[in-house]
Formats: sequence, structure tokens, C-alpha cells
Amino acid sequence: MSSFEFFAPCPRGLEEALAAELHELGHVAPLAVGAQVPGGVHFAGPWAAGMAANLHSRIASRVLLRIAQRAYRSEQDIYALAMEQRWEDWFSARQTLRVDVTAIKAPLKSLEFVTLRIKDAICDRLRDKTGARPSIDTAQPDVRAFAFLSAQQATLYLDTSGDALFKRGWRLDKGAAPLRENLAAGILRLAGWRHGMAPAVPLYDPMCGSGTFLAEAAQISLGVPAGVMRRFGFERLQGYDINAWQGLKQQALDAQQAARAHGAPLPIYGSDISGDMLIKARLNFERAGLPPLSLKQIDARAMVPPCAEAGIIVTNPPYGERLEVRGRGAGRRDDDGAALDDEYGDAGFRRARPDNVDAEFFQAFGNALKQRFAGWTVHVLTADMRLPGQMRLREARRTPLFNGAIECRLFRFDMIAGAVRKRPASDTSDPAPENV
Ligand SMILES: C[S@@+](CC[C@H](N)C(=O)[O-])C[C@H]1O[C@@H](n2cnc3c(N)ncnc32)[C@H](O)[C@@H]1O
Repeated sequence: MSSFEFFAPCPRGLEEALAAELHELGHVAPLAVGAQVPGGVHFAGPWAAGMAANLHSRIASRVLLRIAQRAYRSEQDIYALAMEQRWEDWFSARQTLRVDVTAIKAPLKSLEFVTLRIKDAICDRLRDKTGARPSIDTAQPDVRAFAFLSAQQATLYLDTSGDALFKRGWRLDKGAAPLRENLAAGILRLAGWRHGMAPAVPLYDPMCGSGTFLAEAAQISLGVPAGVMRRFGFERLQGYDINAWQGLKQQALDAQQAARAHGAPLPIYGSDISGDMLIKARLNFERAGLPPLSLKQIDARAMVPPCAEAGIIVTNPPYGERLEVRGRGAGRRDDDGAALDDEYGDAGFRRARPDNVDAEFFQAFGNALKQRFAGWTVHVLTADMRLPGQMRLREARRTPLFNGAIECRLFRFDMIAGAVRKRPASDTSDPAPENV
């Protein structure tokens, strides 16, 4: 059985979580996890390994198949490398193509020119071998080739995913600023959420928006494969292992069927101040084939635990000018109609402006946690490094994560009764009890 080299990019900060997830996929397909590098994880295995990663990984953004790697000094070297590859074994000139290049410390003047040279090489190769050149389609290509350039090495990849993997195929409405599903799933993993967690541990998102954390948590708990509702780029390539794919897909459909038949309610709860967002969340859950989850329209400052047992809170509050904290008084509106780019998922961070943050809201949110959520573990994703101070809570852990290019922190607060916050010398505000 041939073995292939794959690379799975992921949101920066989630490399270790992705490597652990890929290890676990060893029970679905033979898969050897390799090095973690900033922004992704290498792995190797037969075609089934790449297909299983596409179907099951919740954290990878894509799965790329390595075609070639060699030292280079000029654009001509990269052209020659691309021209030597047997692209005709993977796709035909009737299919449309897109080429993307990323580089770190590459000694070349123009990435656009390199992109053009790689595209030329692939098209020239197909013309020489088959008599026809593929057309370029940057919007909806059949096939995507990627090149990664370091200071000395050029690596060529074929994309096996097609649409980015955070697009699970069930999201009906993008909401005001949904979090990317793979970032949400990575955060849930960092929060310790695993398959079969429900019903033992409750999970609550008090600013759930369109319900990304909740849908991911429910699918993880019920064992629904992340990609069961979508198609993948490799399905348009020649030479992938179709028999192995049919087996993997059937198992995934069986798991989805079993989840749909799940009768008992899941202890996964959401609330939001916006009724419109809750309607969107409900429609998303339906489309994702999930059992109904409990959703309530509540201001997070007035939230109470949704169940008797303590559990996990995971949330990404509004931040900055694009999404404003709501419920502060008359006349405030959120901007549900804000335009989103097609790679949605800025989750309110993109045009973040720290001076717009509503300190009063976060203090009240922190008070609600302290007063009513003893025993809960709280995970808050934000681009605002001042959040713990505003919530008057000391974090147990801060994990750097990137939402696209935006640097964020995942703050963990353990709501343990009795602890008292030490005030920093510069803090002149009233003493605040810490973490309940
Ligand atoms: C950044 S979005 C969360 C996005 C969500 N994770 C998703 O994937 O769709 C922040 C959410 O906080 C909600 N929100 C704003 N102010 C609130 C408040 N005072 N209480 C509860 N929710 C609030 C907004 O309606 C919005 O849905």
C-alpha cells in the first residue's frame, strides 16, 4: 500500500490539539503523526489517512497532499520542480485549477510571479502530456495546488479538501460574526470536551450567537464526524482510494444516523440577548441533524446556571466596534447586517478597538459568574487582553490562539469558592472577591 505525506494546516495555537486529534484517528485509518510546525501538523499514511482526516478532523483547516519538495534559488527552479510532477495522474485538463502560494522568508521578489510560474508549469505539463491546458478558476476551482516556500525549500501540495474544512455543510446563516467551526472545536478540546461527555458534564454558552460552540459540542459528544454533510476536493481527483472512501463514508453516515436517533436531551445549553440569533442557532442545529438543544433569550449579566450540576462555560463575547455589547440601555443596536467576507469567522474581532470595550458589561458578567456559578470552569475567547481585569477575575490559564491573523487569548477561570483576588498595585478600584 503506498504511503503519502500530508500536511494539515490549522488555526495557530491549536497545533498540539490537532496532533492529538490526528493520533486518535489511528483507529479509523493507519496514520502516523509527524512534526508540528506553527500553523499545522504533518502526517503520513495511505489515502485512507488523508480521507479520514478530511472527514473526521474538527480542527484542521485543510488536508494537503505533498507532491514534491526541493531546494530552490529562483522562480525557474520552482517552475522546473512543478513541471516534473505527474499532475496528469491526479486530474485532467478538462478540470479547472487554482494555485496559491504562501512563503516565509522566501528570497523572491514577487509571490504573484511565482504563483504564475507554478500555474504555467502545471498547465504546460498537462498540455505536453494530454494535448490540452486546464483553465484557471479562482472562485470555484475543481482542483487547487498549493506551494509553500521557506528560505531554501519549495514544497508543492495538492489540496484534498476543496472548501475549507471549517465549512461543515450545515450552516444556514452566518450570523453576525460566527466563530469558525474548527477554532470552536479546538477550544472545546482545550476545555476538555470529548466524545461521550454529555450527559455527565453540562456545557453552557451564555453568548451563543448562531450556536457554533453548541453544535460542535453536541456533534463531538454524539460522535458525529465533522465532515459527514459535505463533499471534499479529493472526490474530484483521479487515483484516490474510492473503496476505502466508501467504507469511511458509510461508517460516518451510520454514526450520523445513530446520533439522529439519540432520544435523550443533551445537557448543552445556550443563551443570547438576541432572539434573532437564537432563531439562527435553532435552524443550524436542525440542519446539523442534532436533537433540540435548550436555548433561552437572556442578558448574560442576568444569567443563572441552566442546570443543577456545575459544568463548563465556553463563550466568545462581543468585542470592539463591529459587535457591540447589547442591553446597556435604550437605542443600542447590534449590526446583524454587517457584511462578512466569504471566509467568515472573525467573530467580532476583525475591526476590534479596545477603547470600545464595554467594561461595565464585563464587570457585571464577572459578577454573575462569581455569584452564581461556583464550581464551573469558564473559558472565554477574546482579543482583549484586559478582559480578566474587567471581569475582576484572575485567570487560571491563558492560551494564545489566533483567529485568522488576530491574536487572541483563551482565558480559563476556575470558579472556586473562597479565593480572594490580590489587587495589582496600580489597581485603585474597590477590592473585588476573586472567583466567587
Ligand atoms: C461574537 S458573538 C458570538 C458568536 C458565536 N460564538 C457564534 O459562533 O455565532 C457575541 C454574541 O454575544 C451576544 N450578546 C451581546 N450582548 C449580549 C448580552 N448583554 N447578553 C447576552 N448576549 C449578548 C450577541 O448577540 C452575539 O450573538
